[in-house]
Formats: sequence, structure tokens, C-alpha cells
Amino acid sequence: MSHKKVFPAKLEGSVKVPGDKSISQRVAMLASLAEGTSKVTGYLNGEDARSTLSAMEQMGAKAEFRDDALYITGVAGKLQSPAEPLDMGNSGTGTRLLAGLVAGAGLEVSMIGDESLSSRPMGRIRQPLELMGAHIGLTGKRGTLPMMIAGGKLKGTGYLLPMASAQVKSCVLLAGLFADGKTTVIEPRPTRDHTEKLFQALGIPIQINGLEISIEGFGQEGPRFKARNFVVPGDFSSAAFWIVAIAARPGAELVLENVGLNPRRTALLDVMERMGADLEITLTEKQGDPYGTIKVRGARLHGTVIEGDEIPNLIDELPVIAVAAALAEGKTEIRDAAELRVKESDRIAEVVKNLQLFGVEVEELDDGMIISGPTDLKTPAVAINSHDDHRIAMSVAILNSFSDGPITIENVSCVDTSYPEFWQHMEQLGGQVE
Ligand code: S3P
Repeated sequence: MSHKKVFPAKLEGSVKVPGDKSISQRVAMLASLAEGTSKVTGYLNGEDARSTLSAMEQMGAKAEFRDDALYITGVAGKLQSPAEPLDMGNSGTGTRLLAGLVAGAGLEVSMIGDESLSSRPMGRIRQPLELMGAHIGLTGKRGTLPMMIAGGKLKGTGYLLPMASAQVKSCVLLAGLFADGKTTVIEPRPTRDHTEKLFQALGIPIQINGLEISIEGFGQEGPRFKARNFVVPGDFSSAAFWIVAIAARPGAELVLENVGLNPRRTALLDVMERMGADLEITLTEKQGDPYGTIKVRGARLHGTVIEGDEIPNLIDELPVIAVAAALAEGKTEIRDAAELRVKESDRIAEVVKNLQLFGVEVEELDDGMIISGPTDLKTPAVAINSHDDHRIAMSVAILNSFSDGPITIENVSCVDTSYPEFWQHMEQLGGQVE
């Protein structure tokens, strides 16, 4: 079992975070469907992005890493049936989005994944895909993987998403590419819109009207669009660990360049500013999925309330926001975040348990938590298990940089799913890791 010993440290400086995981996986799928060869720069060299790319290769796309770029040659709308099950590893995004694609393409495919992915709910994609005419078998115990998909001849449909989920929204839109007629999804709250932005960049006809998104299907023959070049910006969710590590440390400074700044991803910046952080944001690229530079200066933070529409916009950052809350003066309330319970682990239970091990006063809620600070952190006497959840492992490492002794974090290989350079960057910023 992999583990790391992490020491308290003052972190500061600058790092270049790896490519965005959500965008990388969508680019892998769409470039694989395109006609011709796409050059992709900044593709995430992490396990989730690699398992999605391998799945596309199993269905006929060609991928080659050359001179710091990834070249993907697509199948011009005609995916082939894979000879083996698609092993999606730890990737919820890969699984749910690809399910839409293969259901649309009319292939018979089975999908499997690791222990964490095999415990995550897939009924949420079965429902809309079956409404469109696909057959989805979930052979796990509770509507979970392994999943068998038999699709084809889909009909466009209208679907009101029961939860705010960019993965379910994107699954339906990707299936809609192959449907007859128009497919419309309506989201209850705004979620990340990378799929929509990529459709627009590729000239795929999509209409966006507030929370209602429609696509005119190309039918069973599959979508026809040309390859293009893609630039994947740095992952804001990876940058978030350093933003919090510095924002909560008076006197420290950090610069992060080429970080994705899609407004549907960056509510952490608003939260940190409300908590008293000193941030400076400069947009380098405004078109498509925007990116730019984030400068953070540490300050004394104070508590805030995080709820409602803000939640989907910072859902992946909540474990590290809890770290900021533990160090901030007063109460921080996180509500409306029950989706956290079905991420790579039950992130409400794991965050609450870990904070308590560091002596933080925290109350668990069904849909969030209330954290009281500031806490004089105590180093736990026991090792902390990530439960195969990359963001739990990394947020504990950040939390411990503020404590008074070393801790051991067990099961850290999951960090490679989104941020393989994390430990190296921690050392580059002045941290000590063994
Ligand atoms: C993602 C959407 C979010 C997020 C996940 C990546 C995506 O999940 O938590 O890490 O790439 O669309 P949900 O859409 O299930 O909320």
C-alpha cells in the first residue's frame, strides 16, 4: 500500500498545475469522434485522463504523445465495438460521459472500474439513456458498475436533471449527438459547461438558453465535425490546494499561471475573498474555456456560509475549503452539498472524521458541515487513510502543513488520477514529504 509522511511546513512560491481533468477527458472523447487529427496541448498526464483516452483507442481512435503534445486521430463519427470491457479505473467523468457516447453510437459495451468507482451511483445516467431508447444493465449491488450498455437508434428527448450534475448533463448531450431529433436538458442549478464550450468550438449545433441546453441530433450515422487544435488549461481544482495553503497563511505569497478560470468552476475564489483572502486574478485568454494567472497573498481568514448555487461551482474544492474553515476565525457553514457523499468517497464523512483527528470542532450535517475555528491543530497519532480519494489525500496533506508534527497518509496512489506531480510540487513550495 502506498503512503507518504508529510511534515508541517511554510509553503510559498509558484507552481504550474497539470491540465484540467474534466476538459482533458472531454477533449479525448470529442477529438476521437472527429474527422482528422487534433493536436492537444496541456492534456492531463493523470490516470483518469489516460483511462478515458485508452477507452477511445479501444473504440478505434489513434493517440500518440509526441513533442509535449498529444495527437488524436478520430473515427469521423463511427466508433467501433471494443473487444474487451472498458476499464475506466477511478474516473466517474469518463464512465458517465462515455456511457452517453456508446449508447448513442449503438455499440454493445461493458464498463468496469476500481473499488471506489464501483461504489458510485450510475442509475442517474441509466434513467435518461433508457428514456432515449438505450438498454443499460447495472450488475453491481446498488445500481453500480459493472455496466452493460446496448444502444443505438436513440430518440431525442427532454430531460429535467434531478440533481445538479455536469456529468449527467454531458452524458445526455453526448448521447443526443447520435439521436434522431432534438435533445434538451434542463439543469436545476448551473454546473460546469466544458462540454457545451467544446461543442461550440467544434461547430456542433447547440443552443443554450439559461439552464436549458439543446442539441439537434445527427442521427445514428453519428456526428460529423472536423478535428482542431485544443489547449487544455491548468486544472483549477488542482490549483485550489495551493490557493488555500497560501490564503490561510499570513505573509505567504503564491503565483499560479495558466490556470483554468471558467466562471462555473471558480466559486472558491469568491469564498476565499469573503473569508478575507487577498487574491489578484488576471485573465490571459477569454475565449472558449478561459484561463489566466492567480496571485494569492496569505491573510487571517474568517468563517462564511457556502450554499445554494455556489455548491456545484466548487463541489470538488469543498474538502480543501474545510481546511481553510478550520483555520478561520468563527463558524463556516457548508449546506446543500449532499452530492459530496457520492464522490470518490463519502467526502462529508471523511472530511469530518479527518478534521476531528486534528482537533477541529466540526458538526456533520446530512448535506454538509459546520466548522468552528480557528483551531490550534494537533497532529493525529494515527495514520490517515485516503480511502482511494485523491482530494481527501491532498487536502489532508495541506491541513497537516499547518499542524505541529508529521503525519502518515495511507493509500496515496489515487493522487495520480488528477495530480501526479502533487508531492513534488509540495516540496518545490517548501514542504517536506517522505
Ligand atoms: C465533473 C463534474 C462533477 C465533479 C467531477 C467532474 C465533470 O461531478 O465533481 O469531479 O467533469 O463533469 P458531477 O457532475 O457528478 O457533480
